[in-house]
Amino acid sequence: MPKDQVIASIDFEKVRADFPLLRRNIKGKPLVFLDSAASSQKPEVVIRALNTYYEQTNANVHRGVYQLSQEATDAFEMGRKKVQAFINARHEHEVIFVRGTTEGINLVAASFGKKFFREGDEILISAMEHHSNIVPWQLIAEQTGAVLKVIPVTDSGELDMEAFDTLLHERTKIVAVTHVSNTLGTINPVKTIIGKAHQMGIPVLIDGAQAIPHMEIDVQELDADFYTFSGHKVFGPTGIGILYGKEKWLEEMPPYHGGGEMIKTVTFAKTTYAELPHKFEAGTPDISGAIGLGAAIDYVNSIGRAAIAAYEHELLVYGTQRMLEIPGVRIIGTASEKASVISFLLEGTHPFDVGTLLDQMGIAVRTGHHCTQPLMDLFEIPGTVRASFAMYNNTEDIDRLVAAVRKAATMLI
Ligand code: ALA
Repeated sequence: MPKDQVIASIDFEKVRADFPLLRRNIKGKPLVFLDSAASSQKPEVVIRALNTYYEQTNANVHRGVYQLSQEATDAFEMGRKKVQAFINARHEHEVIFVRGTTEGINLVAASFGKKFFREGDEILISAMEHHSNIVPWQLIAEQTGAVLKVIPVTDSGELDMEAFDTLLHERTKIVAVTHVSNTLGTINPVKTIIGKAHQMGIPVLIDGAQAIPHMEIDVQELDADFYTFSGHKVFGPTGIGILYGKEKWLEEMPPYHGGGEMIKTVTFAKTTYAELPHKFEAGTPDISGAIGLGAAIDYVNSIGRAAIAAYEHELLVYGTQRMLEIPGVRIIGTASEKASVISFLLEGTHPFDVGTLLDQMGIAVRTGHHCTQPLMDLFEIPGTVRASFAMYNNTEDIDRLVAAVRKAATMLI
């Protein structure tokens, strides 16, 4: 697509100006940040919310009768309310604060698995999962005798849905799949997956880490049993994440961590547990993180998720076309439904070498296996170079990437 056809569905200049870090120079060149799938940059409003909290409000939550503690509690709980609205959870107490997607999945694997998995039960994941949606299931499988089953992935990087139909059966106790692949960008048909699993009474966990910054998420519309994501990928702080769980499951599941605030009464003989969501929030939570995440949600809402999705799609189309013009470039992940991620290989080069040269030219990309080693094995490649775009990128960033890859090719091949 010619550059001038790229539709500006957002006020790009304003958005870019909202992110202070993007004004940096790297290696003497203006930074082109193309690693938002690893962690997004933060807008001024999020940075300000964190500072304001520490300057004006800092106190522990749910523990003090004094004014500061109450203000901190209100601000922290407001973060939860904003998340509830953002993902359209039915109840506020279905929103559990965790450290990130990894902890969200570990929580469900350990707690749900402990309660429901028996010898020979099956856990169904997919071949494109991040290690954080593989290893926690392997840990609980070792403890319970459950078995991991894997939905295959096609050459274009899509889930083999016929195989999924066959793999789903009465021994399946949970399905856990990613909404968007961090390595391939594939957007999976999670609504169909959930619908089919539910016909057989099987709950579904969705790893939403890569989906949350790119599209509208409505957990009730999806009918997801669990949906988990990280704050730092959606322009919020690191260290805060969300596990959404349907009330009926969270009520049935045992606590994950023990400690302060997750109890009702404690004696040496017996402890009873707090109501949701506190049952799953032992210890002092990431108070500033919840407040910062709330600010990030306000920011995303002010731009509009539909506008962000449309804008990023245009970047993906433009970027894909430009990258394919470079001799020797092979894109890994060519699904028909993709988020704004382009993973590629440059023939005759190693991804690390390309990434290192791009860095010399001020361009930040991720290289390697992207925490998806089984997927790399499937494609029989050591890794990829991954450029991932956010709403603060534009076609000029893509042009800089393309010119830099061309230059790297002349140096390496
Ligand atoms: N999971 C993150 C990524 O894909 C860190 O880069």
